[in-house]
Amino acid sequence: MAALLEVRDLTVEFTTKAGVVHAVEGASFAVERGEAMGLAGESGCGKTTTALALMRLLPYNGRIVRGSIFFEGRDLVPRSEESMRAIRWKEISIVFQGAMNSLNPVQRVGRQIAEPIILHEAVDREVADTPTSSPAACASVPRSPWPWRATPRSCWRTNRPPPST
Ligand SMILES: Nc1ncnc2c1ncn2[C@@H]1O[C@H](COP(=O)(O)OP(=O)(O)OP(=O)(O)O)[C@@H](O)[C@H]1O
Ligand SMILES: [Mg+2]
Repeated sequence: MAALLEVRDLTVEFTTKAGVVHAVEGASFAVERGEAMGLAGESGCGKTTTALALMRLLPYNGRIVRGSIFFEGRDLVPRSEESMRAIRWKEISIVFQGAMNSLNPVQRVGRQIAEPIILHEAVDREVADTPTSSPAACASVPRSPWPWRATPRSCWRTNRPPPST
C-alpha cells in the first residue's frame, strides 16, 4: 500500500530583491499511516518551508519549482487552490509554530477558532461562533463565554475574565 504521504524531490525557492533563495532542494521522504515523523535541522535549513509547501501555504514569493507531494496517492503540487481548500482542515492540517503568537491579539478568541470551521464546514457563522456549540467543545474551549469572547490581548493582560458585557 502507498505511504500516507510521499514527498519526492521537493524543491522550493523564494524570490527576493536580493535574488533567489534556494530554501528546500530535492527533499524526499515518506510517512506511513499512523507514523509520526520529526524533521530536524539547523535554523534556516528549510523545515518550515517544507511544511508550508506540503500544505500549499507558501508566502507569495515562494514556489514549488520541482517535485511531488503524494498525499493518499494524489499529487498535491498541481492541484488548484480551490481543491486544496477542500482537503485542508478535513484531511491535512498544520499546527503553526509559536502558539502564543498564532492568535491575532485584537480579534476575539472565539471568532478565530470558528474561522476555519466556517470556511470548511457547512456551519452557520452564529453556530460556529457560539461557546456552547460543538466546534467550541471540539476545541476544548471552556463553555463559559470567557475566554471565548475575549481577545487574546485581554487574556494575556489580565489573566482573568473581564466583567461580563
Ligand atoms: N518568505 C521568504 N522569503 C525569502 N526567504 C525566505 C522566506 N521564508 C523563508 N526564507 C528563507 O528560506 C530558508 C529556509 O527557511 P525556513 O523558515 O524554512 O527554515 P527553518 O528550518 O524552519 O528554520 P527555523 O529552525 O529557524 O524555524 C531560510 O534561508 C530563510 O531565510
Ligand atoms: Mg521554522
